[in-house]
Amino acid sequence: MYDFDKFPDRADSDSVKWHEVSGDVLPMWVADMDFESAPPVVKAIQERAAHPYFGYPYTLELLKDHIVAHYKKKYKVTVRPEWIVWVPSVIPGVVTALQMMGSKFMYSIPMYDHIRNLHNEAKLPVVEVPMKRDESTYRYTMDMDALEAVLSPDIKTLILCNPHNPVGRVYTKEELLRLEAFCTRHHLLVISDEIHCELDLEDRHIPYFAVSDDAAAYSVTVSSAGKICNIPGLPLGFAIIPNETLREKFASRQDGLLPCANVLTIAAYEKAYDGSCDEWKEELREYLRANRDYAEARFAKIPEIRTPHNEGTYLLWLDCSALGTEDPADFFLKKAHVKVSSGKIYGYSRYVRFNYGCPRAQLEEAIDRMEHAVEVWRALKK
Ligand SMILES: Cc1ncc(COP(=O)(O)O)c(C=O)c1O
Repeated sequence: MYDFDKFPDRADSDSVKWHEVSGDVLPMWVADMDFESAPPVVKAIQERAAHPYFGYPYTLELLKDHIVAHYKKKYKVTVRPEWIVWVPSVIPGVVTALQMMGSKFMYSIPMYDHIRNLHNEAKLPVVEVPMKRDESTYRYTMDMDALEAVLSPDIKTLILCNPHNPVGRVYTKEELLRLEAFCTRHHLLVISDEIHCELDLEDRHIPYFAVSDDAAAYSVTVSSAGKICNIPGLPLGFAIIPNETLREKFASRQDGLLPCANVLTIAAYEKAYDGSCDEWKEELREYLRANRDYAEARFAKIPEIRTPHNEGTYLLWLDCSALGTEDPADFFLKKAHVKVSSGKIYGYSRYVRFNYGCPRAQLEEAIDRMEHAVEVWRALKK
């Protein structure tokens, strides 16, 4: 059993999450976890680093076989090695697919902030469409009618984020099929960002390309081991593109970028996908489920904060509208000494995103502080 209660010393780890807080502020923002990276990955990097020769690697092709076997075991789906195209990391893969289409694109909001900035990076126009929220459960779903209503012939691409950052949804098969029918009807390419796929806490994630033949025929699914193995600082990613014509078009846009992995990253990714980390990943998900349940139960007792049930990722989407401030992240930073991500960057200013991927003691302390800050605010209001 791995001890996820152990608190790693991140002081000298070059962590942006810990670098940008001072004094006693607890960082519950950037999406990496305050656990050691997956131990088989760490060991593989250490062993490779101990070897005093860093020549050109040949193993990237072999790594594809591990990914194929992983998708078969974890999702019971077929990936052929030739469907896999390496990308520098997930976001460059999404940008490559957007630029390949070279047209206006759409997605539902709230949405991960970097995706919300892609119209600048890809220099393409975008349409953002609000999701629907059930007002009793606060559960979010994609609003298919609203997506349909804003469609125009120049929109050729839709970005899906599944599991969803920041609302924590893992879309059901029915939802994915509904989306696929919509995209097929309107001939929209789906770029599915599945970086959080192994952080599915409901055991139901379906890779988009596997949802139907039409989905396989017109999609680019991008993922990596960054989130699950807690190695986002070792960038690499892969796009799964079953359609050969599309794949060749995508790959041809990457000339000059290949090979995009170094020997240490390759050593890490071999262990990430060859089954060595399976037990650790399972234990991590168990720990995260318990953290999620704890955090949701605690936030449910604070009337000013509402949160949908988190199905995947380690990110809770907190609706803080009742606090009456346009910047609840600033409120929690100043009054609770807890740094959370401002909802504004995801499209909704009265919300915050809260990262619960940390040892339980840190999570408890962060929520204690936030609860206390809200209690003081409530008392002063009277
Ligand atoms: C949904 C989503 N996509 C992509 C990324 C970043 O991907 P990468 O660092 O591999 O480019 C993140 C990081 O938080 C994310 O949450």
